[in-house]
Amino acid sequence: MIRKYVFGKPFVTGAVVKSIKPEIEEIEFLKKSGNELSFQLGRDDIVYGLGQMTRGINKRGWHYSCYNLDNCNHQEDSVSLYGSHNFLIVSGKSCFGIFIDFPGRIDYDIGYKDSSQMKIAVCGDDYDIYIITEKNEREIVKELRRLTGKSYVAPKWGFGYCQSRWGYKSEEDIRAVAENHQKNDIPLDSICMDIDYMEDYKDFTVDKNAFPDLKSLASDMAAEGIHLVPIIDAGVKIESGYEVYEEGVKNNYFCKDKNGKDFTAAVWPGKVHFPDFLQKEAREWFGSKYKPLIEAGIDGFWNDMNEPAIFYTEKRLNSVMNRIGELSEKNMGINEYFEFTGLVNSISHNSGDYEEFFHNAEGVAVSHKDVHNLYGFNMTRAASEAFEKISPDKKILIYSRSSYIGMHRYGGMWQGDNRSWWSHLLMNIQMTASLNMAGFLYTGADTGGFGSDTTEDLMVRWLQFSVFTPLMRNHSAIGTREQEVYKFSNMEDCRRIIKLRYVLLPYLYDTYLKAAEEDDMMFRPLGFDYHDERSRHTEDQLLLGDEVMIAPVYVQNAVGKNVYLPEEMMLVRMKSANEYTTEILSAGDYFVKMPTDELTFFIRKGKSIRVCEGGKNTAELSDKLFRIGYLK
Ligand code: NOJ
Repeated sequence: MIRKYVFGKPFVTGAVVKSIKPEIEEIEFLKKSGNELSFQLGRDDIVYGLGQMTRGINKRGWHYSCYNLDNCNHQEDSVSLYGSHNFLIVSGKSCFGIFIDFPGRIDYDIGYKDSSQMKIAVCGDDYDIYIITEKNEREIVKELRRLTGKSYVAPKWGFGYCQSRWGYKSEEDIRAVAENHQKNDIPLDSICMDIDYMEDYKDFTVDKNAFPDLKSLASDMAAEGIHLVPIIDAGVKIESGYEVYEEGVKNNYFCKDKNGKDFTAAVWPGKVHFPDFLQKEAREWFGSKYKPLIEAGIDGFWNDMNEPAIFYTEKRLNSVMNRIGELSEKNMGINEYFEFTGLVNSISHNSGDYEEFFHNAEGVAVSHKDVHNLYGFNMTRAASEAFEKISPDKKILIYSRSSYIGMHRYGGMWQGDNRSWWSHLLMNIQMTASLNMAGFLYTGADTGGFGSDTTEDLMVRWLQFSVFTPLMRNHSAIGTREQEVYKFSNMEDCRRIIKLRYVLLPYLYDTYLKAAEEDDMMFRPLGFDYHDERSRHTEDQLLLGDEVMIAPVYVQNAVGKNVYLPEEMMLVRMKSANEYTTEILSAGDYFVKMPTDELTFFIRKGKSIRVCEGGKNTAELSDKLFRIGYLK
């Protein structure tokens, strides 16, 4: 059951698709004082949710701030990431879900200052609160999804292995990636094209020197079953004569500053304007720009920098420079030194810049600051709605960096710029469950890690988790160690795991479709299905569909890991479709050896999964299906 409470005059965010009559009584469960909600947590209560956020599956014990942020250096103490998903489930003595539909900032203290208190501070007066009560956590999630709509279903090839790197600079680089996968017998479905394919980082352009004939490239790749997935950034370069810029200016499609001029910030292309994705016309216009690329044979995109990320604004840069000028005239003492570094670090992604521009939402000027969390959502909505017109018969792959609840109807999301850290592999595992709660089924993190240098061990262990996630993309940043798996001495192990992705695909794809159709989750914490204390507090094992439990390794040099089995399960060790062993283990604790050259997972009691013999890509999957599991 859902109850809706309305405060003030909420901005229509687009998160919700079902209309619900608001309650008139006091809000149940939570105490409200001004715009702060509080709840007394029971000793054993777990607080699930917040989608893309740091820390574990149980969010209790830290504070968070839902305000979208390009946070490529995020660590355990970060409080904001790329997306905002204001949905929590309190599970314990009482069990209920809370979704706050508010596009500005919300601060959460979940047992941080006082471990028995949860406090939620909404930074504004106008919002909707939905309280969901159902018989268990899974049903609460389903009810949220019925409220916010069906999850996006990606084309099947989007479930294949993807190789990406910021640094592929030319057609030759892309062809080499494809050839090296083929030469080394590594399956591959797609290659991402990062910003270097564009001319001067201008959206919807192609650098003619580096990519003289994109259409031929796309068609040669298609002949090999490989899809190209170019990036599209939020900011539009300011350059006279550049069509997208000229049209945006002419039609008032860009966000405005306080003086009614197009707001300017600097991102990859240098100075840019930001399309006003809150305007329907601007969305339609921007969406239509994907068309020539689709006509050139492209059928997948990733929308980036759409928090929107701002490297600097002229105004902030000038004020920082002035102050640094003053400091440089003094003797640099330790205080001046720290002021200097603080000033430099304050230039990028400064939330103060979000007060400097405005949207035209249905004729009303709205400060970006108040609707900040909707920007990436609406960029992706623009693309997705355009794809329905441009390509009604063929599904286009789309995933975004920034998001808000409701965006799951329009596309998927990747988990932003992580690092090649073991802790980020664990975070990826935990975040996947939390994102599923918020409706984001099509998700995955940069496998191997984006920033920092990866290691062979980390890569193969990360693949052993990503092999299960809908988006399985190896992506890394320019300047870091190259991490295409054929460059590693443990390529054979990596290849084995990637091949197993294709063996498991019938099961993974069916499980995804079922979750999308039934408003369900693909990945769940153990505590959603098993209510014993151990299961409820397990942070590093997940349930996949109704059949599988996974327990990925996320520790360097590990030979295996401690696994908790809440009930009898079948341990499966797989090297290939034809080489696997099974063993029935009764409920309890085990140290399970997990070598890097096989995939280890568990099938739940009485269940089986449907797999195939694999293939070099999703188009050529073997149609010889067989079952593994508890068969008579
Ligand atoms: C930031 C994105 O998160 C990352 O994936 C990409 O490689 C860089 N932008 C460059 O486009």
